[in-house]
Amino acid sequence: MLMIPESFIQELLNRVDVVDVIDKSVPLKKAGSNYVACCPFHQEKSPSFTVSPTKQFYHCFGCGAHGSALSFLIEYQGMSFVDAVEDLAKSLGLAVPQETQKMTPQLKEKNLALGEALELASQYYQTALKKSERAIEYLKKRGLTGQIAKTFQLGFAPEGWQNLESVFKQYDDDVLTIAGLTLKNNQGKRYDRFRDRIMFPIHNMKGDIIGFGGRVIDPNDTPKYYNSPETPLFQKSQELYGLFAGRRAIREAGAVLVVEGYMDVVGLAQFGVRHAVATLGTAMSTFHIKKLMRQTDTIIFCFDGDHAGKAAAWRALMNALPSLNDKVVLKFLFLPDEHDPDSYIRVHSKEAFEVMMHDAMPLSQYLVQHLTEKNNLVTQEDKVKFLNEAEPILKEITAPKLSLLLRKRFAELAHLNEKEMDQLLHLPQPKSLSHKVMIKTKGKLPSSVKRKFILLLILKPELALSEDILLVSQDSFEDDLLKKVLEIALHQPDSKPSSILHGLKSQVDGALMDLIHEELSLFDDHIHFESEIEGARKSLTQQGKASATREHFNALKDKPLSSFTDEEKEHLKMLAQRPKTPPRD
Ligand code: CTP
Ligand code: MN
Repeated sequence: MLMIPESFIQELLNRVDVVDVIDKSVPLKKAGSNYVACCPFHQEKSPSFTVSPTKQFYHCFGCGAHGSALSFLIEYQGMSFVDAVEDLAKSLGLAVPQETQKMTPQLKEKNLALGEALELASQYYQTALKKSERAIEYLKKRGLTGQIAKTFQLGFAPEGWQNLESVFKQYDDDVLTIAGLTLKNNQGKRYDRFRDRIMFPIHNMKGDIIGFGGRVIDPNDTPKYYNSPETPLFQKSQELYGLFAGRRAIREAGAVLVVEGYMDVVGLAQFGVRHAVATLGTAMSTFHIKKLMRQTDTIIFCFDGDHAGKAAAWRALMNALPSLNDKVVLKFLFLPDEHDPDSYIRVHSKEAFEVMMHDAMPLSQYLVQHLTEKNNLVTQEDKVKFLNEAEPILKEITAPKLSLLLRKRFAELAHLNEKEMDQLLHLPQPKSLSHKVMIKTKGKLPSSVKRKFILLLILKPELALSEDILLVSQDSFEDDLLKKVLEIALHQPDSKPSSILHGLKSQVDGALMDLIHEELSLFDDHIHFESEIEGARKSLTQQGKASATREHFNALKDKPLSSFTDEEKEHLKMLAQRPKTPPRD
């Protein structure tokens, strides 16, 4: 919807200090030329999270988390990209320019007004709850304490058609209708959307209220839950109830528990299980999964044991598969038939619930169980059926290790060897090219000169202004990477490394980005760039001589000689004099 010019993002990354940004949420300690802390993205006792002021990025040697000031706000604070950009811009006193007219100042003001309206309404509902014996009685009957009602800012929308008139000066204002607080009848008269309901405010990751869920008190009323409509602030399929309130607990537990209802989140929290979130009556979407993966590595789905719960679990699983990586652990917890999490923890105990969480079924086990539930894999037909069902699942999974292990397991079950199965199902090779080519060199600096050259260029992009483009041949993935880095560096030779990396991110595979970050983190800040790069350039030129291709030759040959640098002339001469071995095209 909203387009922020890429150049502005680069400018932000060049001006902001990642150390300040992170230090606000995760206190940093100076250690040599870097800053360190215990990693906020995984649990650890000794610090392996480093922040580099010169490179302007963070990197964790434990879990591999890395990125710029911008990615920190997105990953750690859970902000959207746009919010993170706005936040950084604000801290620098800059206004975010917009490429399209969509987010006009008027619209922005409107969004602000929407947020304010929701906040005011919520305060009204909270006060109204304190005044309503009936509502208090209901919550007590459900076993909720006043304390937990307060924590979740529960409220009450009393009976009556225009209660909010007492809250807003302009009850007829469209803002209230757009915010989902009022509706308009056929005569154009406005009335309150929520009447005689317990109100659950829904927050975004910044803690702002963006909508409400309202539950009936009278069991004969329908629908049982009534939610805010989709508004500019509120998209049901993207939000999770309880995520803001639970974000600390989620980080501390190293896991998030996904349940089905508002009441489950609140009830569990009352018993001390504070890392639960719920979708807003929708299925778990890919977007949800990604949002949770930014907060934690372990996602436990908790579903009712009945048929509906099982169907929901399978749907959640299928939606999750494409976004999985090898770091994230998915687990599935099925409750006994008659229970939801709220009732289970009340009837049993926190401890009993914790045992269930601990014993939740890992993804692979759940997959196998589901696929073999009604199939004992005896006849050829059974196996064909199994393979037919396994095929779409395997095709959805891109996490290399998970994919490989599941293929092995599924092949075993179908009594095939892996090769037979891969051929039969036309499965693509797991995409781990960059892993294979860039052998992980933990704790060591890059082995190849080309790689070192790439890293040096990222650290000091102005080096691209020389004629190094000549060093790029076409025969390895490192050449391809070098070419990309050169292109970016040439466009922004004055940038900080974080900004070059930002430009690179959209062009290369995530695993490769991980490695680049890791290797960059190992680079000493006090290296002597000029001599390092000279050294790298020299040995690359040597290599280039040995492996020059026809492309080089053609590219140079078509250029007017007058535009040549001395080195290019040398290079051309060298290429032209190459012995007869025909270059392979
Ligand atoms: N839901 C909804 N609209 C409905 C029914 C349910 O949006 N008419 C959503 C709500 O987000 C609700 C969730 O689905 O929290 C789960 O529904 P349910 O299990 O019926 O509700 P609980 O949260 O368990 O509430 P309670 O215990 O009060 O019945
Ligand atoms: Mn319930």
